[in-house]
Amino acid sequence: MHPREKPQVKPVFGKSVDDLRTEWDRIALVRQQQMATGNDLSYQHVLLPSILETLDGCELTRVLDVGCGTGEPTKALATISEWIVGVDVSRRSIEIAQSVQHQLPNVSFYADTVENFARKWTGPAFTSAVANMTLMTCLNLRSLVGSIAKLLMPGGHLVASITHPWFWPHYWQYANADWFRYDKEIVLEAPFGISKDQTHYTTTHVHRPFSSYTQTLSEMGFVIDRIFEPYPNESIQSLYPERWDFPRFLVFRAISQRSTLQRSG
Ligand SMILES: C[S@@+](CC[C@H](N)C(=O)[O-])C[C@H]1O[C@@H](n2cnc3c(N)ncnc32)[C@H](O)[C@@H]1O
Repeated sequence: MHPREKPQVKPVFGKSVDDLRTEWDRIALVRQQQMATGNDLSYQHVLLPSILETLDGCELTRVLDVGCGTGEPTKALATISEWIVGVDVSRRSIEIAQSVQHQLPNVSFYADTVENFARKWTGPAFTSAVANMTLMTCLNLRSLVGSIAKLLMPGGHLVASITHPWFWPHYWQYANADWFRYDKEIVLEAPFGISKDQTHYTTTHVHRPFSSYTQTLSEMGFVIDRIFEPYPNESIQSLYPERWDFPRFLVFRAISQRSTLQRSG
């Protein structure tokens, strides 16, 4: 396949959380290897550095890793956090995270949806939350962001990265498909790929216009205090099989304005 040719992306209907779990279970080992070996260039050189930089100034006493996958970001965040909890709906990803990261004393993992975790959690509120490439994979943004708000202390930060809502459809070449509308939420299925490794494992992501994110965050009591489009420098660009013609991701930081009283709701 020519590097510029992306595998077919198609809209799908009726996806459930169980479907999502099965998809991320199937690809879990491959994802862990892609990330641990440095093969996932964007994670290694663009997303993780952006997340770490954006966490500067956030309180890192108790950190929640939202949709932590196989725990690679959790492991990196453990070096700067007093205590970190990773939650992911994929049981296989959590098994891998536990087996690879078990030697870290300040890390705990839970296999569940973040929504269920928020209903059950009786521990102290988290001081910060990180969601690396999770918000565009969840099926219900409102319930996920609402659960994060419930788990965070008032004044706590959420730092998140997402695929760029405007440029990703161009990058993956579905912006001109007859079914695509930028202003609509569309659940999409495609074989998972990174620049250096196209797999045959299907995963789901949800196209949402950027206004869906800002509106949902605002409704759940968050105020965005930082937002940027990370771009690799020339030496990082040269590692990629194709140049970045435009930004591929968005990174933002939002602060929870919810009061302690609202937390119990
Ligand atoms: C693209 S992966 C990113 C994983 C990890 N953050 C990383 O950087 O490697 C998205 C992850 O979000 C998880 N996920 C999606 N919706 C979720 C939810 N509502 N609760 C928990 N995990 C969820 C998926 O299972 C998947 O592992």
